Formats: sequence, C-alpha cells, structure tokens
Amino acid sequence: MDYTQAEALLEKYNQTHLLQYFDELSEDGRRQLLSDIEKLDFSVLENIGCGGEREIGRLSPADALSVEEINKYRDKYEKIGIEALRSGKVAAVLLAGGQGTRLGSSLPKGMFNIGIERKLSIFEQQMNNIKEVVNKAGADFHLFVMTSDINHDDTCNFFRENDYFGYDGKKIHFYRQKLAPTSSFDGKIYLDEKDKVSLSPNGNGGWYSSLIEAGYGDFLKENGIEWLNIYAVDNVLQRICDPVFIGATISSGCACGSKVVKKVSPAEKVGVLCKEDGLPTIIEYYEMPEEYACMRDEDGELTYRYGVILNYLFSVDKLNKIYKDKLPCHLAAKAIPHIENGKKVTPDSPCGYKFETLVVDIVRLMGSCLAVEVERSREFAPVKNKTGVDSVESARELLKLNGVRL
Ligand code: UTP
Repeated sequence: MDYTQAEALLEKYNQTHLLQYFDELSEDGRRQLLSDIEKLDFSVLENIGCGGEREIGRLSPADALSVEEINKYRDKYEKIGIEALRSGKVAAVLLAGGQGTRLGSSLPKGMFNIGIERKLSIFEQQMNNIKEVVNKAGADFHLFVMTSDINHDDTCNFFRENDYFGYDGKKIHFYRQKLAPTSSFDGKIYLDEKDKVSLSPNGNGGWYSSLIEAGYGDFLKENGIEWLNIYAVDNVLQRICDPVFIGATISSGCACGSKVVKKVSPAEKVGVLCKEDGLPTIIEYYEMPEEYACMRDEDGELTYRYGVILNYLFSVDKLNKIYKDKLPCHLAAKAIPHIENGKKVTPDSPCGYKFETLVVDIVRLMGSCLAVEVERSREFAPVKNKTGVDSVESARELLKLNGVRL
C-alpha cells in the first residue's frame, strides 16, 4: 500500500491523523506505518457508542457436578478420560496471547519467575502439571500454544531454550492470534510510535478461528482429535487434560465442559457460569447485575456461585459448526501508552479502549455445558496482579500448600 492508498482508506474511516508524522519518518518507518495501516481491522470501531456491553437476558443459576459427586464417580470418569487420552482424542490449547498488563512485565506472562529460591517459570510449572497427567495416563498429547505478534518469538524461544521442559517438542505447536487497534474513547486509533499503530491482542475469543487460519484444521482431523482442553497461562495450579474432567464431560453428552470453583464472595472477580434464556452462559464479573451477584439460597450459599477458571473442554465437531459465528466485541477501558502532540505519553488511568472477543462467549454458542466443580485450593491460583489479590504472592502460597518447592 502506498501513501495515497493509505490516505484514501483512512479518510473513509475518519482516521487520517495516523499519517500526521509521515513526513518526519525514515524510509523504514514509512514502510512500517503503511504496512500497519494496510492490516488494520477498522470494524472494531463500530462498537464504540453502541453500548459495547450486550443486553443480558433472563438469568437462572447453573447446576454443576459437585466435588462430592465427582469423588463418588471418580474412578469411572478417570477411566473414560484416560482412554480418550490414550487414543489421542484430546489435545490441549494454551492461551498465551495476552499482554499481562496488570502484572507489569514486558515479557510473556508465562516466562514470569514464580520461584523464590530456584527459577520456576509459569510455563514450566504448567508443563510439570501436564507431565503428571502424562505419567498417569501413560500417553502424551498435542499441545497448541496461542501467542500474539507481541510475544510470539519470546515464547517460542523460551520453550526451545528450555528444551520444551522435557516434553516432546514435536507435539508442541505455536500459532498466532490477531491484533486489533486501540483507540481513544471517541474512536480515534492511537499511534504507539510515530511510525507504528497501537495494536493489542484481540482477545482470547478467536483462539479456534486463529487455529484454523493457522492451518491446523486438517491436522485435528488427521490426528483424530475430538476434544480440545483450553486453559489460561495465568493459573499456576491449572490441571490440564485432567482425565476426570474429560471423562465427566464426555459421559455427560454436553458439547463442552467447564471447570468451576465456588466463589468466595459476591464481588470476586471471576465470570459466573449460569443460564441465560435457558442456555449456558458466562457473565463476566463486571457485567453481572449486583442483585444477582449477591443473591443467596435458603442455606446461605450464593445462588450464582460457580466461577469459571478458564479451563474448558470443547468438542471439535461443535466448534467447527459455530466458530464462524460473530462473537460480541467487548470494550476494555485501559491506560494505553500513545503518541500525543508528537510525544509518547503513558497515562495512569484509562484513556481509551482495547477491543476483545472472549472465549466465555463461545460457551454460549456451544449450546450445552457441563460445569464441574473443583477444589479451589488445589486448582485455582491466578497470577493477575503484582501484589494483593490474585497475585504472585497469593499464587506462591497456594503452590506451597500443594507441595511445590519454590
Ligand atoms: P486476561 O483476560 O487476564 O488478559 O487473559 P491478559 O492480557 O493476560 O492480562 P491483562 O488483563 O492485560 O492484565 C486471560 C487468558 O487469556 C489469554 C491470556 O494470555 C490469559 O491466558 N489471552 C488474553 C489471550 O490469549 N489473548 C488475548 O488477546 C487476551
């Protein structure tokens, strides 16, 4: 794309300010900027001013298989799960394309050292969790790792330099998700540098479409992979391809399964699995009406009590039917560093939007979902913040509680 074409495109979307420093740029800078502009997805801007948040339908609580029920049928579920793993029907997908802004490290979140006296990255800890399952099942499985342009090379290099943490490197496949522009609250796309558009990962909702675009559709088919267990990079107690979870979901006949924990308080910042107009849905904590968040049953338990921990098992068959459906775009108000009056500014408070689609919205499209309750002290140690709630400190305490040497 040349300057005239870029200008014409930007005029159409009212974004010509992106070229305001063009004359000052080097040849390389000009090339970089034009290439950024050519790839821009302007459609996300349509979500500004039209509410952003979707209207929530009629809510009702979801049922879940409780820890007690799971324990009662543990052997049966485990056997089914192990058989599925041994026959290669299950693979895992690590969602690691996020920016981890709250943690404040410029490196991929998975490279963060959670150890104290020894080095233990989040990636390594999760791979250790995987190896426990592999030992138990006597079979390993394919692992797809979703990255984004901002952390792809660092992530791949880190796995390689660490010899894939003792896993078979041929079974680990890296692929990239897409980026979306960021903008001011009034919809002007930001420049990150004079020669660079401000871009951020477009949310974890596109994990499957990006996998397909990366050419892995045939691979899934050829390898007989029927289920994908997706999980977040930021839970160091994440149990991946847990045979009991796999067995329970397969036996339920549901198109997907979700691990859930009982919320500790109405205000806990986790999405809640419930039903909306009769269909399984996850309402993010910031979208949950307070009266529902605080509602209690007669025995005092929260009525909407099941928080999701970003560990889902999805049927590939069903994913293939729904992945082209449009997902809602969520507007996240963030403090976005950008160029203002010719200088780089790093605001302390939100100044604009990042645009994201979310995996939680896929659960609704799946049509049926088995919620499987797990013990939070064994399986939920999120690393979102530097200190305080859901932080490196709280995750370290939980790791120690689970016997992990740090
Ligand atoms: P979060 O919603 O916590 O976002 O991601 P984040 O980007 O990691 O962190 P903050 O909000 O900037 O502090 C939950 C999971 O989804 C993945 C993350 O890597 C994490 O595993 N994710 C998030 C993606 O893979 N892509 C995205 O675009 C966003």
